[in-house]
Amino acid sequence: MSEPREAASRASRLPEEARAALDALRQRYPDEEALVLPALHIAQHHWGGWLPDEAIEAVAHELNLAPAKVYGVVTFYDLFHQRPVGRHRIRVCTNLPCALRGAEEILQVLGRELDVGEDQVTPDGRCSYVHFECLGACEMAPMMMVDGEYHGPLTPEAVRRLLEGLD
Ligand code: FES
Repeated sequence: MSEPREAASRASRLPEEARAALDALRQRYPDEEALVLPALHIAQHHWGGWLPDEAIEAVAHELNLAPAKVYGVVTFYDLFHQRPVGRHRIRVCTNLPCALRGAEEILQVLGRELDVGEDQVTPDGRCSYVHFECLGACEMAPMMMVDGEYHGPLTPEAVRRLLEGLD
């Protein structure tokens, strides 16, 4: 038996439903390695929006890959989370143009309004926020991304209104 399978043999397994979803994709991909991204998406969905070690190891086991390889993918892509995240995920750009136009204040407003620190989830599971490198919308500075949508130029009041509109 190959080393990766042995390494992952103690790992937890994907639940039946997730394995079925992965099986349905298998014929569309040339090999198991090509399935890493969809498998991680499926696992992340199953584990409630993030990937604990158990989930990453389950994916490695399912695809017969070394866990380190799957961890490498998880840490490379921002779409995968190794900590719990809120239903609404907020990213605040703090690169220079946004920083010069008040990104720090935007982060402070988020902290006050949500009453949690960066990278923490509100007790109701509604929101989490992080600072981020340039999101490619410098003309909107200061700006942030909420669930994939760009918002800016922001003011503290605009941030408060945005938060009020999130379910
Ligand atoms: S510096 Fe903020 S989007 Fe580019």
